Amino acid sequence: MSGGGSNLQALIDASADPGYGAEIVVVISDRPGVRGLERAAEAGLPRVVVDWRGHDDRGSFTRAIADAAEAHGAEALILAGFMRILAPDAIRRFPHRIINTHPALLPSFPGAHAIPEALAHGVKLSGVTIHFVDEEVDHGPIIFQEAVQVRDDDSESSLQARIQEIEHRAYPEVVDAFARGLVKVDGRSVRWEGQ
Ligand code: GRF
Repeated sequence: MSGGGSNLQALIDASADPGYGAEIVVVISDRPGVRGLERAAEAGLPRVVVDWRGHDDRGSFTRAIADAAEAHGAEALILAGFMRILAPDAIRRFPHRIINTHPALLPSFPGAHAIPEALAHGVKLSGVTIHFVDEEVDHGPIIFQEAVQVRDDDSESSLQARIQEIEHRAYPEVVDAFARGLVKVDGRSVRWEGQ
């Protein structure tokens, strides 16, 4: 993660249940001093800062993240408000084991400014997409989507609040199902077993 960590918090809260399918083994941030790291500390979780600014290129930054994850025994990377692009090396090291949540209905509005761009475009529906990460930005196979009605008087923050309400419910559910091996990928198509 890179910032506030409200999605991280939702995952921390869900994983406090002994019946939850996944365990958070380490929280990795691409910058120091963010609220997400405090949330990890409050939960007693190991933290690693892989500072983007300390790396010459995306390849070495990505390797440092994958190394830190593997050193803590991570079997998957769950991107939760992570505002950097990983190099293809990470996708090869964690094939179909990197998941991201995006605040729009992909393939509409990929990139870091999905909410303002959706508002500027005047769409009536936006939403949440949870997807596997592949080598293209905000592009991999889609695991989950839910729509949000855009209101005439929506601001960035009001739309973001409704989007995050969905993320905080859905992301822990997706991660739980994924960790239990219930999320099957075949090309671009993803199905959830038992649904
Ligand atoms: C989330 O809404 C996510 O969709 C986007 O960044 C936001 C991060 O929020 N990629 P938080 O750091 O989890 O609070």
